[in-house]
Amino acid sequence: MNTTQVDRIASASPASLDECCAQPVVSHTSNDLVDTVQAIGIKPFFASKRGDFVLLEGDCRQLLPHLASGGLRPNTIFADPPYHLSNNGITCQNGRMVSVNKGKWDTSAGVHADHEFIVLWLDECLKSLAKGGCIWVSGTQHVIFSVGYGLQELGAKILNTVVWEKPAPPPNLACRYFTHSHELVIWAKRNEKEKHAFNYACVLSSARLKLAKMVDRARVGDRLLLIAEF
Ligand SMILES: C[S@@+](CC[C@H](N)C(=O)[O-])C[C@H]1O[C@@H](n2cnc3c(N)ncnc32)[C@H](O)[C@@H]1O
Repeated sequence: MNTTQVDRIASASPASLDECCAQPVVSHTSNDLVDTVQAIGIKPFFASKRGDFVLLEGDCRQLLPHLASGGLRPNTIFADPPYHLSNNGITCQNGRMVSVNKGKWDTSAGVHADHEFIVLWLDECLKSLAKGGCIWVSGTQHVIFSVGYGLQELGAKILNTVVWEKPAPPPNLACRYFTHSHELVIWAKRNEKEKHAFNYACVLSSARLKLAKMVDRARVGDRLLLIAEF
């Protein structure tokens, strides 16, 4: 890196997180969002006291088009989808061997059927995004390559894959592989042409990343993930 690049990074870094988050994250006024959601026939599972965020419960393949039909299009979608790992395996929790079965939603129906499911929900996500909106999807090796392929099949543009390192991963029971100690997070936009937003200065400040690299070590608080910002 040359001196000009270093200067540019230094001048791009805001003094504090407050400074770069001076813009309100949600443009809705109090209860506006709750009213809008209710007006299209969706009852929030939870609404914050200030009415600036709601939690909705349901199948995203129905919920997202329903929201879009009411003009509610997210700028950002963060998905932590099923990994299809509940197939009678075992893992170690608090030093004890336990079943990995989480529920029917996590069982695998085979490579092709699992991929079909992934493409279905990805398609609804991409179709519902606002112009210039982005999707983030986290996953282990069991699912993330299918997500990446599905995104490309749907014409999305993958912007980065961020490595989420787990400093205290579950112990390696079989000792026949390297310990699974990270997930990948794919960041993508709907297509090549649309312009996405990337506040480089804010990333540097908020996550304390050194150079906003895809592989970096960041200390983040307990409120990192924004599910959907409308
Ligand atoms: C890997 S888990 C995510 C766990 C979550 N990040 C948490 O910390 O609780 C996957 C989640 O996807 C949900 N899910 C599965 N199919 C879904 C669908 N079609 N629409 C919405 N959510 C679904 C499951 O109920 C499960 O909670």
